[in-house]
Amino acid sequence: MRNLKALLLTGIVLCCSSFVDGTAARSPGSHGLPSQENAVEIKMVKNGVVLDNKLVQITFSNPGGDVIAISYGGIDNLLEINNVEGNRGYWDVVWDNVAETVHTQNKLPGTQFKVITQSPDQVEISFITTYNASLHRGDNGVTVPMNIDKRYILQQGRTGFYTYAIFERLQGWPGGRMETLRVAFKLLGAKFRYMAVSDTRQRFMPTAQDRARGKPLAYKEAVLMNNETSSPEFSGEVDDKYQYSAEDKDIKVHGWISMAPPVGFWMITPSDESRIAGPFKQDLTSHVGPTSMTVFSCSHYVGKEVGLKFQEGEAWKKVFGPVFVYLNSAAPSSHSSSMIRTLWNNAKDQMLEEVKSWPYNFISSQDYPSSNQRGSVSGQLLVNDPYIPGIPVASSAYVGLAAPGEVGSWQRESKGYQFWTQTDAKGNFFIEHVRPGHYNLYASVPGIVGDYKYEVDIIIKPGSKIELASITYKPPRIGPTLWEIGIPDRSAAEFYIPDPYPTLMNKLYKGSELDKFRQYGLWSRYYELYPHKDLIYNVGANNYGDDWFYAQVTRSVGNNKYVGTTWQIQFELNAVNPGIYTLQLALASATYAELEVRVNNANAKPPLFSTGLIGDDNAIARHGIHGLYWFWSIKVPSTLLHKGSNTIYLTQTRGGTPLQGVMYDYIRLEGPAEKP
Ligand SMILES: *[C@@H]1O[C@H](CO)[C@@H](O)[C@H](O)[C@H]1NC(C)=O
Ligand SMILES: *[C@@H]1O[C@H](CO)[C@@H](O)[C@H](O)[C@H]1NC(C)=O
Repeated sequence: MRNLKALLLTGIVLCCSSFVDGTAARSPGSHGLPSQENAVEIKMVKNGVVLDNKLVQITFSNPGGDVIAISYGGIDNLLEINNVEGNRGYWDVVWDNVAETVHTQNKLPGTQFKVITQSPDQVEISFITTYNASLHRGDNGVTVPMNIDKRYILQQGRTGFYTYAIFERLQGWPGGRMETLRVAFKLLGAKFRYMAVSDTRQRFMPTAQDRARGKPLAYKEAVLMNNETSSPEFSGEVDDKYQYSAEDKDIKVHGWISMAPPVGFWMITPSDESRIAGPFKQDLTSHVGPTSMTVFSCSHYVGKEVGLKFQEGEAWKKVFGPVFVYLNSAAPSSHSSSMIRTLWNNAKDQMLEEVKSWPYNFISSQDYPSSNQRGSVSGQLLVNDPYIPGIPVASSAYVGLAAPGEVGSWQRESKGYQFWTQTDAKGNFFIEHVRPGHYNLYASVPGIVGDYKYEVDIIIKPGSKIELASITYKPPRIGPTLWEIGIPDRSAAEFYIPDPYPTLMNKLYKGSELDKFRQYGLWSRYYELYPHKDLIYNVGANNYGDDWFYAQVTRSVGNNKYVGTTWQIQFELNAVNPGIYTLQLALASATYAELEVRVNNANAKPPLFSTGLIGDDNAIARHGIHGLYWFWSIKVPSTLLHKGSNTIYLTQTRGGTPLQGVMYDYIRLEGPAEKP
């Protein structure tokens, strides 16, 4: 039943932790035989349930199923004791009814507590909410029409617990949209002051009070800590939770550290399978609060067009998680950096163990298939572009299974499970641990424009081992490249990202080229760089790293007014061949934007091409360097082009706010198809 290997490894870790009762830790010699002495216990207390394995005690509200206390490592409660019990550790959703007259956060209080399994070495408990359609008929969709089963698992000898949730809708229930779905923990502010999101993104953080005394900037999430009563070390800095977002594929472990005593609180997400919208979806991680969470679904960086939308009457079921809430401790030391390193490295090691143990074999729910009930798909991905010599292998490509759909549909898909991997240097991929189901196979190849979809549906049954022969992506291509701007990789990171304002910095990213885009307020550098005239890019003379601003934002014209802008691409043609030229246009983000393309006539009506009004991924405001990916092949008749100088006009027509516009991924002009 249990995962002995992970237990033993944790045991080894525990033996070196000074704040853990050494006698309680499983000794590596015991070979996983349960010991009664340290058995996991369930204790019923007034209005609560406690799970206790002598190393950690977790208290849940009963029957609500919120985590109200976590006792570990010499700290009575790692959660914020000044918060009401329902605002410490919880699952929650944001729910809209079909008419969108209801937009509520709901913490999914359970109404029924159940012990699912209980043995000396593991306890799994459940808090269930049951939707009663007849009871809630006529409540205008206020009650979330879902059965929700929140599960918690504590194992013997483990310093941490698992949580997952099963969401289910039955036929006939009201429709609506679940915008947000997450599990969140609000930690004890007096202790947890150091936050780690990755090897390079970690720092001592301001407190919630420092934030509260600061000045909100363009939106309430961004605050300038300019108040003399704030902690002086943060004075003049901007805090914004979006500066700590990451792509889901990279969100595996993050959390907080208390220095005295040295204790770490970590959220480990070993698999991305239940999160929505594919590997590049960005989500919040940890931020000032101190808060730590795992986001499964949210409109951040994708907009309202993505999310869990249900038709009236639609049935559905999905398991979110499990995630592992991992706690560790270190020997006290006068060197805070060495304690931090010890705790962070140990948390990363634990993350690797959890990834290795996925899918877990100790989950009771029939809705979470174990490894022998899952299947795999392997193969090799090649790229066949007649203008790239040979048929190269697609190395470091992202290959994934997601619900059947159009090319690229996975970035908007949310109701099913997705399974992604990266190809090796030879283009080989192996997608394992796939739940039984009906999928399409998709890929995104860095350096190659567009999106790949394998034409044959993939049906996974328990134990399936599907071996595809070489499969070949034929990317969009009509004729030879005349010029290109950027790198086709779904991101605007290679373009010009200006320096942050010294008065609006997050010092964590000072001097970092990689994370520069996470600084606040970069959009307004545009009006400084281009005070009178919009950006003009000359294909022969300019380079995109210096001369192509990372976002085509609106222009400030005073009085809090912002208008759309027109960028120009100027280029020379030695000759114009009769036929159809092609503009391959890929965007990395769009927010309330409409992009029009004109050739050699800035005022042509109608434009050669318009995207129409698209996007609300808000990647400009939220310091993402991309949101959703958009791609078009635009036909340019040769009659619009001249021998000699030409100009393509890119007009973003929509104005109103400083935070709207587009980010480009890649632009390529191709000549007419050549005769073979
Ligand atoms: C649902 O609510 C109705 C009306 O109060 C009640 O009669 C019925 O027993 C409830 N159904 C369940 C399954 O609890
Ligand atoms: C600083 O914070 C205090 C306490 O919240 C507040 O009363 C005061 O007005 C703030 N000062 C400034 C300059 O914002």
